Amino acid sequence: MSLDQCKLIPLPKISNPKGNLTFIEGQQHVPFAIQRVYYLYDVPGGAERGGHAHKDLQQLIIAASGSFDITLDDGRKKHTWHMNRPYIGLYVPTMIWREITNFSSGSVLMVLASNRYDEADYYRNYTDFLAALK
Ligand code: TYD
Repeated sequence: MSLDQCKLIPLPKISNPKGNLTFIEGQQHVPFAIQRVYYLYDVPGGAERGGHAHKDLQQLIIAASGSFDITLDDGRKKHTWHMNRPYIGLYVPTMIWREITNFSSGSVLMVLASNRYDEADYYRNYTDFLAALK
């Protein structure tokens, strides 16, 4: 996939003086059926996460709390998004390398994923990822 297919997706936001609410429905607000949800938390200052691509997995990445930066790379172009709103997701299609940095204290990175965990779906070596694109 190309970087052009990576995009911010605005999510529904039900505003209320007693607290806001956002919901996400599979195949409605994200272009896939949701098979898995996971989240990163207690990330120490200066940590870098990601450093991989997925063969088949699609994801929506959300800053459920706090903020972080995500750099996506399709092997030709790169772009960095600063994520800091719980009602905006970043859609990451297949075969995109990601690096996640600059986590704020107390941040929570939530991921909705199109498949269950499968280590065989990962490229964890950037050279192997580039070779697979050819
Ligand atoms: P990884 O995807 O490499 O994390 P990140 O991209 O955030 O740096 O996963 C870290 C570890 O957690 C790795 O050993 C695999 C394991 N893991 C699971 O067991 N299930 C999951 O759903 C995920 C996302 C990771």
